[in-house]
Amino acid sequence: MPRERTVYVCQVCGRRAAKPVGRCPQCGEWNTYVAQVEKPEPRGRGRRVVKRDPRRLQDIPPLEDARWPVPIGEFARVLGGGIMPASLVLLGGDPGIGKSTLLLQMALEVARERPVLYVSGEESEAQIRLRAQRLWREEDGAPRPFPENFYLLSETDLEALLLGVERVQPDVLIVDSIQTVYLPDLEGVPGGVTQVRESALRLQALAKEQGLAVFLIGHVTKEGVLAGPKLLEHLVDTVLYLEGDRYQAYRLLRAVKNRFGPTAEVGVFEMTDRGMTEVPNPSEVFLAGRVVDAPGSAIAVTMEGTRPLLVEIQGLTSPTPFGQPRRTAIGVDAYRLLLVLAVLTRRVGLRLGDQDVFANVVGGLRLQEPAADLALAAAIASSFQDRPVRADAVLIGEVGLSGELREVSHLEARVREAAQFGFRVAIVPRVLARRKPRWPQGIQVLEARTLRQALHWALVGGEG
Ligand code: TYD
Ligand code: MG
Repeated sequence: MPRERTVYVCQVCGRRAAKPVGRCPQCGEWNTYVAQVEKPEPRGRGRRVVKRDPRRLQDIPPLEDARWPVPIGEFARVLGGGIMPASLVLLGGDPGIGKSTLLLQMALEVARERPVLYVSGEESEAQIRLRAQRLWREEDGAPRPFPENFYLLSETDLEALLLGVERVQPDVLIVDSIQTVYLPDLEGVPGGVTQVRESALRLQALAKEQGLAVFLIGHVTKEGVLAGPKLLEHLVDTVLYLEGDRYQAYRLLRAVKNRFGPTAEVGVFEMTDRGMTEVPNPSEVFLAGRVVDAPGSAIAVTMEGTRPLLVEIQGLTSPTPFGQPRRTAIGVDAYRLLLVLAVLTRRVGLRLGDQDVFANVVGGLRLQEPAADLALAAAIASSFQDRPVRADAVLIGEVGLSGELREVSHLEARVREAAQFGFRVAIVPRVLARRKPRWPQGIQVLEARTLRQALHWALVGGEG
């Protein structure tokens, strides 16, 4: 008989160790290891092998036809066109960001066509009904009859959940959240690594065997990892993240992994009193509150997935009152801010060493690509020199350590988006590609070799 043994498992990242560990070498958290007793499966005996014949590639039906439509366009796009039967989707995001709201809306829409079971371990049935009433309305605000095929279960016991599935036979199952469900026969607290992983594996088996689409909601902890279920990312077919600033209305739904569609696709929503509403024209809203001709503001064009998006970046410099100057980055990477500041200091000659610097991306977006460097640099230089950035210009380009402006991807698409929104000038890196881009009508494209050159063109009072 194989012997039982005790292992220690980190409750944050799932790392396993033979001995208790104070600080986890993988995720850096303290005192997160919990002892677990493992009983190895008896090997060999009782195992059944199901014989399955390999099939010719051409005999395998294409997946595309199989998708179930989702009438929420932004959601469907991020999924890759619709809901894939027999798939497991993880929706991660900070608490309070709108995960339950979004999936409840999706579930209500889908339930018009096919049975849906929404299982919540977070809220009571009455609470969910109340929320559904708020979300499910006619255009004029009148209450709308609920779809008959929408089933609700407030439950945390996974066995009970599976019984519910047996009863309802849903096509789509939503589990809110994976951290609340648990298997009674298994050790470990709900939300812990063992429970989360085992529950997800059971739900995955359910999805694959019965052709269900299963959506798991997973909360992100303060470190930005899905609590425990960072482990789930490799196990599920699709990983979506809902991002945004809790205190601002806009939300981005991002696919970071998708076995059935493109990644890097992004859907934009606004949290309103009627739930998550689609924002089909995001650039418009992100520029809405802009104060034209004020120093410290520049427009970047960022690619969110395959879609260009105009965003305002703000910079503010202010003399450091005492001690170390502070650098504060909201919505931009803190290291990119430091890099841009260093280049502004050393290559452009701005004396920022005794300045506090703040950088902010308007609308709660988080920019991840270096293509926003130039706009970031311009916003800071603009504030420092108290000269506004030309109101009719967008700024695109990565800043290199030598003060050079480096090429970015999708330049044509970015410039086209800017032209569409009435911008007259695009300041971009010099295009080295042999095939010159075809710039759209109505916008002048200025190719700058260096950051200094670009700022000279961008800041009002510099052109003359
Ligand atoms: P929720 O979906 O509960 O977030 P999560 O499941 O990610 O924790 O939504 C959280 C917030 O959204 C909550 O503070 C209230 C707000 N909200 C709206 O603004 N409008 C609405 O129609 C709904 C349902 C919620
Ligand atoms: Mg929730």
